[in-house]
Amino acid sequence: METIKLSIDKALGCVTRDEVYAYAAKAEESAALLESGKGKGNDFLGWLHLPSSIDETHLSDIEATAESLRSQCEVVVVIGIGGSYLGAKAVIDALSNTFAWMSADKKNPIVLYAGQNIGEDYLYELQEILKNKSFGIINISKSGTTTEPAIAFRLLKKQLENQVGKEAAKKRIVAITDAAKGALRKLATMEGYKTFVIPDNVGGRFSVLTPVGLLPIAVAGFDIRKLVAGAVEMEKLCGDNVPFAQNPAAIYAATRNALYKAGKKTEILANFNPKLHFFAEWWKQLYGESEGKDHLGIFPAAVDFTTDLHSMGQWIQEGERTIFETVLSVMNMQHEVVIPSDEENLDGLNFLAGKRVDQVNKMAELGTQIAHVDGGVPNIKIEIPTITEYCLGQLIYFFEKACGISGYLLGVNPFDQPGVEAYKKNMFALLDKPGYEAESKAIKAKL
Ligand code: PA5
Repeated sequence: METIKLSIDKALGCVTRDEVYAYAAKAEESAALLESGKGKGNDFLGWLHLPSSIDETHLSDIEATAESLRSQCEVVVVIGIGGSYLGAKAVIDALSNTFAWMSADKKNPIVLYAGQNIGEDYLYELQEILKNKSFGIINISKSGTTTEPAIAFRLLKKQLENQVGKEAAKKRIVAITDAAKGALRKLATMEGYKTFVIPDNVGGRFSVLTPVGLLPIAVAGFDIRKLVAGAVEMEKLCGDNVPFAQNPAAIYAATRNALYKAGKKTEILANFNPKLHFFAEWWKQLYGESEGKDHLGIFPAAVDFTTDLHSMGQWIQEGERTIFETVLSVMNMQHEVVIPSDEENLDGLNFLAGKRVDQVNKMAELGTQIAHVDGGVPNIKIEIPTITEYCLGQLIYFFEKACGISGYLLGVNPFDQPGVEAYKKNMFALLDKPGYEAESKAIKAKL
């Protein structure tokens, strides 16, 4: 079976291998602390052995629900924000044919997203496009009270009920939320929606292998069993019994902490495959929300290459030397495209005739790595054999485990996100939400 591979060779220079390996004992302690459940945020460790604990009944239930939505709907709208949508979108975008939405031969429903912003035009245009379409909704909110998805659901629920009637609408709505608490659980019980539970001990950004990610991914037509199998494999390869030198999650966590200590404050996740754009968005949330606290933490940024070499390339090559790169390198493409020869050769490209497009991309990748390393940007590389469910499952668990270890190495609680509340409090105060009278008065005095 194919396995993703981590290489830190090109990150060494700014820090030495010894400086990275100096973290070995601490990284092993951090992994043991995760395992013992005695560290910070220990009430949110449900992700740690989630892959290996997913059972057949659970998977069959998700697959059957996906099939029911697939058979009824040409479009399924996934409503959610942050950890309640990024994992699903990351995997679906990585695996999908980029232009499938334009194809007349629709094997799978189109998956659209809502509740991840408060864009009035976005919601207007979504409602317009859904008119006269047979659509369904997967409404995802762990707390069940998040404003963005709640607004989107209120709008789309009404629209669906108007289009197909209240009873038929109920069969096309699935709610994924807390087992007992929150407005969404209450509503789902009242309306009799099919529901799935987000376990109490799994935070949003670690929830892609719960129904939060698995149901939309199955609806989009992908094999969630292979995704889970990949994650199970990585759970073994990054297990706390695996010594530091063989444990990719521990080495990645140690390397980024060593680089951070050496003044590299920003990590740029780079890909050379546009299908991974949203995988980087998922990663940004995972690391940003987990580590950015107590005035500490590497800033997680992302670029799509070669596209962004023509925009951010200058900064990366010659800007402030406070960055390092982690490159997602996909080894094998799914398809072949060969560059044709041209009699006129006006563009001077005949030296590439007969070569695959990916050969050019690989040389762009290698050339970029050499240029960036020469320019003082340490490079970590993660080789992904092919973009498949199995490899993505591995990658997800690899980054989750590394994130837990890395957060403990940094000394923060990687499993909370208290800072997210500040904007919500101000927004509610500005909108005169009942119960926020004192905050309203205080914030309006500042305007
Ligand atoms: O990682 C997190 O916990 C957050 O990003 C949440 O996923 C996000 O805020 C959405 O929350 P909820 O699922 O409760 O609506």
